[in-house]
Amino acid sequence: MSAYFWFEGISFHAMVHKREIIEESRDKFVIRDEDTVILSYPKSGTNWLIETVCLIQTKGNPKWIQSVPVWQRSPWIETKKGFPILINKEGPRLMSSHLPFHLFPKSFFRSKAKVALLMGIFILCHALHISNWSFQTSSRSSPRVPCGSWFEHTRNWLSMRENDNFLLISYEDMKKNTRVTIEKICDFLGKKLEPDELDLVLKYSSFQAMKEIKMSNFSLNPEDVLTNGLVHMRKGTTGDWKNHFTVAQAEAFDKVFQEKMAGFPPGLFPWK
Ligand code: A3P
Repeated sequence: MSAYFWFEGISFHAMVHKREIIEESRDKFVIRDEDTVILSYPKSGTNWLIETVCLIQTKGNPKWIQSVPVWQRSPWIETKKGFPILINKEGPRLMSSHLPFHLFPKSFFRSKAKVALLMGIFILCHALHISNWSFQTSSRSSPRVPCGSWFEHTRNWLSMRENDNFLLISYEDMKKNTRVTIEKICDFLGKKLEPDELDLVLKYSSFQAMKEIKMSNFSLNPEDVLTNGLVHMRKGTTGDWKNHFTVAQAEAFDKVFQEKMAGFPPGLFPWK
């Protein structure tokens, strides 16, 4: 079996995804008003945001994050593992997705479900976080970028950023202003946390804490092609691109970035 398959211009890992699920989730999966979706391009800090949202839901109590793997707490809609969990789950659901706009469940666009879009910039980027670059280049079985181009993915999803049910967060802001960002997420989700509960969210969602939790660091999931042989939580810092890009590469990237992301207001991208 080939390691990849193509679906409407996007390549997917066959080990993690299945054509029928991508199709069914787009056409038939019903996203409900009370659902919360964490949306991101791969390697944007998705698992950090999931951990944070889970801890907000439990008001800082770590029991849930310490006993249930991240992909069961917030299943990925488009995956073989996640889809069956979601369709069988009653009540408000927390779910994740890396899907591009055009493959996302159509029902979402008629719903009031809350979406937190996490934006970070990785592949080929001078933009301050080298995560995906390292991830892709160190994976021998990974000749292509899954989930399509970062530019397309981000451009299309950003078109919804003014909607009331949409919250835009960046990895860089999460790093720089973690507490403020958590408060923003609480407001968005309508959760009121006391200062000591916020302290607990911060404590248990820290890089060090997550690295040590088996339920969060993907060490329980060695067969997953996305993590196979690779360190899921590498450095967890911004600005690491400086150690990997030459000045010429950074300039070339900057030029492409300006072209591809033209039209967005200055200040939208915190790494610029
Ligand atoms: P690095 O490879 O730079 O370490 P995703 O969850 O979307 O796959 O993103 C993975 C990136 O998020 C990794 O970046 C990982 O270290 C970082 N990350 C995960 N948890 C984090 C945390 N609590 N604080 C900061 N970065 C975190």
